[in-house]
Amino acid sequence: MMKKHLALCAMAIALQPALAADLAAGKAKVEAVCAACHGANGISVSDAIPNLAGQKVAYLESQLKALKDGTRKHQVMGAIAAQLSADDIANAAAWFASLPGAAAASKSALLPHLVKTGVAFPADYKSSFTRYHTINFPATRQVRHYYANPVALQAARDGKPLPNGAYLFAEVHSAKVDADKKPIVGGDGFFQPDQLLFYTAMARDAGWGSAIPDLLRNDEWNYAVFTLARELRAGANQAECLACHKPLDKTSYTFTINELTAVAKAR
Ligand code: HEC
Ligand code: HEC
Repeated sequence: MMKKHLALCAMAIALQPALAADLAAGKAKVEAVCAACHGANGISVSDAIPNLAGQKVAYLESQLKALKDGTRKHQVMGAIAAQLSADDIANAAAWFASLPGAAAASKSALLPHLVKTGVAFPADYKSSFTRYHTINFPATRQVRHYYANPVALQAARDGKPLPNGAYLFAEVHSAKVDADKKPIVGGDGFFQPDQLLFYTAMARDAGWGSAIPDLLRNDEWNYAVFTLARELRAGANQAECLACHKPLDKTSYTFTINELTAVAKAR
């Protein structure tokens, strides 16, 4: 035990001048941000996210640089890497590399869902929200119907950023399919909905962003996925929603802002 510890110390000292990494800063950044997905101990929170504990420093740095400059493409991780400085990259890589690797079946308990969401199911959306958009998803044979509440609609009509109280909501349906399993397109050009599967939502209110680290924060927006029973879906990771919508800071973190604005102005 003692011997191993001494050996690690010697290695850390030997490596430090070359790397010039600040392990304490790396630890702080990892625990504040990266832990939401990679785990505070570097053991990731889901099967789609890689473990980073015990990975080689040089590999971690090279991948973060590639994700930052876009030579390695990933929408979520790319949006995060784009915000890291060269120092952040060196420090976080050094910290992850210093952690012991995964034991069989280890899972990080910390921050799997980042923070609690403030978004509640909008029980009266059918009567009070406006449907403003539809998108076909051929790969998954789904069709989504998008809704906005009056606060979001009014701001879009006025050409203003969506303020606190704004709520955007989507119903996710499976598409009706023909004998060849091809989605059936209706007269409006959209897949005909078959079964309602789940709902996704984003909304904002005062203070909702305060517990979210800057690297992920979307101003005051929070995100949620709801089941058909209108309950929060267990295991949905708000960090993924925040990371992917984060680059859209100029358009209220909203991908469908043009469609929303067009419908709002036409009313
Ligand atoms: C919202 C979830 C999320 C957060 C937060 C996040 N990551 Fe990632 N990260 C991912 C996913 C997903 C991948 C896998 C990307 C792929 O499949 O190409 C990944 C991949 C990586 C890789 C490449 C690993 C490999 O084996 O090639 C590195 C390095 C990395 N992340 C570092 C970080 C650091 C450092 C932070 C914090 C500053 C961070 N990540 C925060 C989701 C996240
Ligand atoms: C890989 C990137 C990505 C991730 C991760 C992501 N989104 Fe989105 N989101 C999009 C895109 C692109 C759109 C535009 C329309 C569409 O594809 O549904 C969108 C649209 C939306 C909309 C409609 C308002 C708008 O921005 O146009 C809501 C609500 C939404 N997402 C919620 C969520 C929630 C909740 C999560 C996390 C569980 C999430 N999103 C994760 C990319 C992402």
